[in-house]
Amino acid sequence: MFDVKKELNLSTKHEGLIIGLFDKPEKFSGLLMSLDQGFEGQLTDLVKSGDISAKLKRISKIHSFGKIGAKRIWFVGLGKEKDLTFDKLKEAFGRLFKEVQMSKPEETAVYLDSFTTEGISGLDASHALSEALSLSTYQFDGYKQKSNEPEKKLEQVTIYSSDYEEAEVHASLTVGYAFGKATNSARTLVNIPGNLLTATDMANYALELASRYDFEVEILDKAEIEKLGMGAFLAVNQGSTEPPKMIVLKYQGKEEWKDVIGLVGKGITFDTGGYSIKTKAGIVGMKTDMGGAAAVLGAMEIIGEIQPEQNVVAVIPSTDNMISGHAFKPDDVITSMSGKTIEVLNTDAEGRLVLADAVTYAKHHGAEYLVDVATLTGGVITALGLHTTGAMTNHEQLYQQVLEASVEAGEQMWQLPLFETEIERVRNSKVADLNNSPGSEGHALVAGAFIGEFTEGTPWVHLDIAGTATSSKAYDLGPAGATGVMTRTLALFVERFEPIEK
Ligand code: BES
Ligand code: MN
Ligand code: ZN
Repeated sequence: MFDVKKELNLSTKHEGLIIGLFDKPEKFSGLLMSLDQGFEGQLTDLVKSGDISAKLKRISKIHSFGKIGAKRIWFVGLGKEKDLTFDKLKEAFGRLFKEVQMSKPEETAVYLDSFTTEGISGLDASHALSEALSLSTYQFDGYKQKSNEPEKKLEQVTIYSSDYEEAEVHASLTVGYAFGKATNSARTLVNIPGNLLTATDMANYALELASRYDFEVEILDKAEIEKLGMGAFLAVNQGSTEPPKMIVLKYQGKEEWKDVIGLVGKGITFDTGGYSIKTKAGIVGMKTDMGGAAAVLGAMEIIGEIQPEQNVVAVIPSTDNMISGHAFKPDDVITSMSGKTIEVLNTDAEGRLVLADAVTYAKHHGAEYLVDVATLTGGVITALGLHTTGAMTNHEQLYQQVLEASVEAGEQMWQLPLFETEIERVRNSKVADLNNSPGSEGHALVAGAFIGEFTEGTPWVHLDIAGTATSSKAYDLGPAGATGVMTRTLALFVERFEPIEK
């Protein structure tokens, strides 16, 4: 995919040449000056007339008509140099590559030096470029009957960077590309409909990942799940003809199995709501209720690629939530693996039930720190909208590490409180230790509080991605549909993780 070279020679043949353009008053210098001379001063004219714009994320394409080796030049507006951030640069690259893709070149060149600032090194820019390239050109193929026309794809990108060793730039490009690709894998899992991605399919996908990256893997089938007494997880599966799977992947990057990070992802392949059934409008889209599982699997893909010196156990409880004569129902009392009994007041509050047993099981596998990710509540959308993941924690220091990773990944999150008042509400049942739905007021908070009951003192961060797992509109770094949110945050969190003194 990527080829890194030092010296850019304007006469070298390329399908395209990509150049970043900062908004500054000075005249062209360096490469831009030679380019302008090659075009007999017409570049200056085009900038003056506004046909080429340095405004942030503005893409301008010009044809070279043989005046230089590259057939076309794409200028990427980067705005004021001091205002450019890593996230903005990624978005600019995202918009660029969507545009580039429309011309269907199979190769292109990038003048990397034109994208760097005091705060953004050539290596940062390389990471931004490759991550944005993979993210922005992602497509879910879907299931339409195909035409025979072969799709032309960008297959070769030559990066010209005079300031760094080729190997360094190449390494950055590879990492950025891996982050983008794994996010795309998560997107695809979420985009696949429930009939084509059952718990068994998800388990098979995990097996494939495990063999690709040499992870230890354990897939619990229904009998084993029963034996372990995972009554909360089983209750959700009870109405289904599809067997449940508890999926466990282990990555050991340290000598000893200690300081283990548990990543727990909600893997509901379709959520009907059960007997507390969803409305006919509310049920559409519920194939995405395994977005947490997808993020965890995506993060494991990155972990497999970058091999950090960390220990990770990924735990994914997977089933659909269906109705039948066998299904669980409101008023049922169930017993979780932890021994805690739960009064079911709402079968649509199923995520917290499967996560309860998954959290307990992650601890059984030695998890000393927990992060769960789940499309858990409509309430988080009411509270924070569609662009911000809701976070809760029982441990501020651990939360800081997750938050920092999210900032680096460019994925917004905001903390919601875990107060005694909500803990008391989930503990309020006449017949059981807990109830799964103490009324809809602040239900993002009670859902988090419920999961917290099963952490039993283990440092834990909860991420509710109900609003952020999908996007109804296309955006710079992806199309409408699944976003793959939290894949990159989780991976960065793991990569940078520092054990907390207890
Ligand atoms: N999977 C849903 C949450 C959801 C809503 C995800 C919208 C994506 C988009 C979850 O299982 C659910 O049904 N939550 C209920 C909880 C309620 C019954 C306490 C909700 O949010 O309404
Ligand atoms: Mn539900
Ligand atoms: Zn759900």
